[in-house]
Formats: sequence, structure tokens, C-alpha cells
Amino acid sequence: MDKETIGIISGKGGVGKSTIAVNLATLFASSDYDNLLIDGDTSNPSVGLHLGIWQHSYGLQDVLEGKITPEEAIVLHPATGIRVIPSSLRYVKDVSMKNLSRVLDSIKAYQCITIDSPPGLSSEVEDIMEACSKLIVVTTPDVPSVTSATKIVDLAETHRIPVAGLVVNRIVNKKYELHMQEIESICNTRIIGKIPEDFRVPESIAVKIPLTLYSPKSPASTAFNNLATEICGKRIRTLRATREGLLGKIINFFRSVLGGS
Ligand SMILES: Nc1ncnc2c1ncn2[C@@H]1O[C@H](COP(=O)(O)OP(=O)(O)OP(=O)(O)O)[C@@H](O)[C@H]1O
Ligand SMILES: [Mg+2]
Repeated sequence: MDKETIGIISGKGGVGKSTIAVNLATLFASSDYDNLLIDGDTSNPSVGLHLGIWQHSYGLQDVLEGKITPEEAIVLHPATGIRVIPSSLRYVKDVSMKNLSRVLDSIKAYQCITIDSPPGLSSEVEDIMEACSKLIVVTTPDVPSVTSATKIVDLAETHRIPVAGLVVNRIVNKKYELHMQEIESICNTRIIGKIPEDFRVPESIAVKIPLTLYSPKSPASTAFNNLATEICGKRIRTLRATREGLLGKIINFFRSVLGGS
């Protein structure tokens, strides 16, 4: 089977791309779906921050500049088993994504590569799109975000990159929200994931443990599970942090301090 390269993109910023990318990678890492996560947001990298890894010496920027190979930039996240190429937190001006396609082509060992991307319609985002075999477009259920999503869908069409579907995040089921059918119709694209607003999401980011591990039964975790299943075409089992293990003890401690039940 050909390697999949999935770009997680959005028109508007702050709609949940990095959260979704990190949680999908967590679920893939717990299954036999062989995935590499890449932080394609070189201006505001946040994948490493979600995972609590920021002491890496190298990042995607160094790979794009040809200083190191992609394999040399891969970091193994101990708690989840995610393999990730983080972006370097040090600011590098004018990083070109032009080499991304070539970099991705050279990575042979993975069934799937997931790329978190910066928001918007910049040339950088276009380069990421062109390096992907399919895209997942993230939006929240409001007019500004959905309007931006339509531009991304149009841009993808211009570049002939298939859009696998929309993920609607932060759903609160209030009357003022756009309905799912309205969003599908405005974007002319199928919704493949519906993620509810969940207070455990910011809590999990604060403690740097992906939600699907931190609170596997929370509503957003269940939705991430369904999305992961939809993407890889096979059931991904729900993660369970063991109560006994060290990680389970840490998770229980954070949950009791931060979130109550
Ligand atoms: N389902 C959710 N429930 C509650 N909060 C959420 C949810 N999804 C995301 N958030 C919150 O939204 C904020 C933005 O999320 P995230 O950083 O993943 O968005 P992004 O699209 O990657 O942003 P950017 O465009 O800046 O890269 C985070 O602080 C996170 O806590
Ligand atoms: Mg982000």
C-alpha cells in the first residue's frame, strides 16, 4: 500500500489542528498503524509543547535546510510511543517549505505521515498541501471559520489534492452554531469528525499529556477515537492509562489537582 501523507489544515487559526494531530498520533501509536507526526508549523510550533518535548537539538527546519536527515530529527515520545519530527522552538526566519515534498518522499519507513500545519492560505501552507496525498480540513462551527475552510477546500481543489473530509471541533450544540448539514453544504465536503468542546482538552495540554491518554473516556477522546478509525479504516482501541503504573499515577494526580473527578 502507498504511504499516506495527511495534512491537518485550516483557514482560521486556533481551531484545534495541533490538538487533533497530536491525539490522532497518540491513537495511531497505540495501534499497529505506523505513523510519523511532523510539526509543519515552523513559526509557532506547538506539537512539542503539547507533548512536553522541547529539549530536542534539531527540528524540521534543520531537515528542510539539509543539515540533517529526517531520521536524525525523529524524537520518540516515551509516554505515548509517538514518533515525531518537532519544529525547533528557536525562531528561524523565512523557513522554506519548498523541500518538504522531497523530504517526505525520502521517508520510507512509515505507513502514514501526519503533518500539523500553520493556519491560513500562505505559500507555506500551499507547499505543505502539495506535499500531502490528502488533507483534513479543521473548522469550528461558526461562520468565520467555515468561510475560511471553504477557501482551503478551493485551494486544495486548485492543487488537485483530495480533501478526505472536514473535522468540526469545539461543538457545544447551541442554537447559534452552524448545523453539520449547513457546514457540509457550504464547504461541499463531507464531515468525517465531530469533536465536542471538552474542558479536559486545555487541561491535558497544560499537563502535556495528550487527551486520549490523559482522559481516554472523555467526550472529545471518544470523538478522536472515531476519527482515527475513520482515517485508518480499522478500529482503534480506546487507550486506558493503567491506575498502577507511574504514568497512571501522574495522570491521576494531575486530574485530581486540576479537574476534580
Ligand atoms: N475540543 C476542544 N475542547 C476545548 N478546547 C479545545 C478543543 N480543541 C481545542 N481546544 C483549545 O483550543 C486552543 C487551540 O487549539 P490548537 O492549538 O490545537 O489549535 P490550532 O488550530 O493548532 O491553532 P494554530 O492555528 O494557532 O496552530 C487550545 O488552547 C485548546 O485548549
Ligand atoms: Mg497549531
